[in-house]
Amino acid sequence: MNELKNSINQTIEDLSEKHRMHRKIRFLLDVRGLLVTNKIKGAYAEFGIFRGEMMYAASKILGNNIEHYYGFDTFEGLPKPKGNDEKKFVFEKLGFMKSTYDEVKALLGDVSSTLIKGDFRKEETKKEIISVLKPISILSVDCNWPSSVEAALNISAKYLQDGSIVYFDDYFTGTSDGDYMLPILEKLKVEHGIKCVYFQTYPPFARAFIVFRN
Ligand SMILES: C[S@@+](CC[C@H](N)C(=O)[O-])C[C@H]1O[C@@H](n2cnc3c(N)ncnc32)[C@H](O)[C@@H]1O
Repeated sequence: MNELKNSINQTIEDLSEKHRMHRKIRFLLDVRGLLVTNKIKGAYAEFGIFRGEMMYAASKILGNNIEHYYGFDTFEGLPKPKGNDEKKFVFEKLGFMKSTYDEVKALLGDVSSTLIKGDFRKEETKKEIISVLKPISILSVDCNWPSSVEAALNISAKYLQDGSIVYFDDYFTGTSDGDYMLPILEKLKVEHGIKCVYFQTYPPFARAFIVFRN
């Protein structure tokens, strides 16, 4: 009996995530070869960077395959919900996941990066982002509220290249009210001619897609 229990306990231990960033690091390792094989050059852009951990991991893993790193955040944590956000997304309170610009820059060190502070649902922040952003090869959308996810995609749409990869960290987080991401992806197709082809799921929440333009 003990042997049975031990083997199960050991397997649980072996298969358990060893780090909070496990799914994000797995994703970055998975797409490294894709970028190289398909010769996709461009920027890494992340909407919702919090402490900058995923961007730091991306710089370590993707190295020379990325030309520049762009990060966008309020640096004041989660902003106010809009519209149906609170109904769709079962998540937390104003200011949740706050980290300062200086803390993120300190973690990134000499990574070639541009960080822009502000709520990217607002026109002035959107304009600032558009004035610096370059063609994207990896896009990470990790900003919780559906209104923020939509804003991130609207801003990025014209910079997404054929074969670029989009990672949604919250794909399955707000699903108590149904698949809230489907209409967002549908809109991306209709309004921007961007088709997201399924690539991989990163449990428990995330899903990645490859982009094809019409
Ligand atoms: C889950 S955290 C990001 C985690 C980060 N990607 C990582 O891997 O470590 C979500 C971040 O999105 C930011 N955020 C959400 N909505 C935003 C918006 N409309 N404008 C700017 N930042 C936003 C929050 O400030 C928060 O830091």
